Amino acid sequence: MLREIEVSGVRFQVEDVGTGPVILFIHGFPLNHTMWRAQIDEFSKTHRVIAPDLRGFGGTDGALYSVSMEQFADDLAGLLDAMAVTEPVTFCGLSMGGYIAWQFLQRYSYRVARLIVCDSRAAADTPEAAANRLKMADIVLKEGPEPVAWAMMPKLFAQCSSEHCPLVIDSVRQMVMTSNPVAIAAAHRGMAVRPDVTSWLPSIKVPTLILCGEFDAISPPAEMKAFAELIPQAQFVMIPGAGHMAPMEQPALVNSALRQFLG
Ligand code: MLT
Repeated sequence: MLREIEVSGVRFQVEDVGTGPVILFIHGFPLNHTMWRAQIDEFSKTHRVIAPDLRGFGGTDGALYSVSMEQFADDLAGLLDAMAVTEPVTFCGLSMGGYIAWQFLQRYSYRVARLIVCDSRAAADTPEAAANRLKMADIVLKEGPEPVAWAMMPKLFAQCSSEHCPLVIDSVRQMVMTSNPVAIAAAHRGMAVRPDVTSWLPSIKVPTLILCGEFDAISPPAEMKAFAELIPQAQFVMIPGAGHMAPMEQPALVNSALRQFLG
């Protein structure tokens, strides 16, 4: 069920479906909760799935000039409060959703029972990457989402997905092209200043799954495996035949890895 929930004056659109232990699915940049369709459909059979559109994205308003990963994490805590979810949840984030996961865990560790980080990084941007994001934020505000689609789309998918999953690629392009330029610029500015969290990883106490598409060009398997090894209770799973958008490119394999992790 799609719900609208107000938190501190911001109207969040949230898919809230199923009953049981809560899994929070947090989308990547610059997308919306529908990227998790295959996971929502599968896990709502056994769990309560909560999949919000982040501030400014999809059907959620409240876009600002810049939104830090900490702000996104605070939004999610406020959202869980507004939904009266007090139990610790499984937090599953992809890419930017993973950057937000580190912050959520740091600030609200008592709210996290398990952590799943898909196709994401612990490192900060290099100075060049951060400068490019700031440049792109200005461009998007002038020209709309198209330049972001041009820059990102070629890096998001495994070659085999580009050949065999045109519908997935079209739906991601559609999500990018319909994203609010103000929200895209704000998230770019926020990601540009996100910290390197590598030193936090050894103190993560919850069971953790680090999942990576075999051909992820943005957060490559070697980098994800290396940071997974710093987390005491982490498993690393590589998804064959997938790139950065593994949950959409190989939904059955990703669902089976999640199912195994959730027990
Ligand atoms: C994402 O998928 O969320 C982005 O690739 C994150 C990023 O730009 O670092």
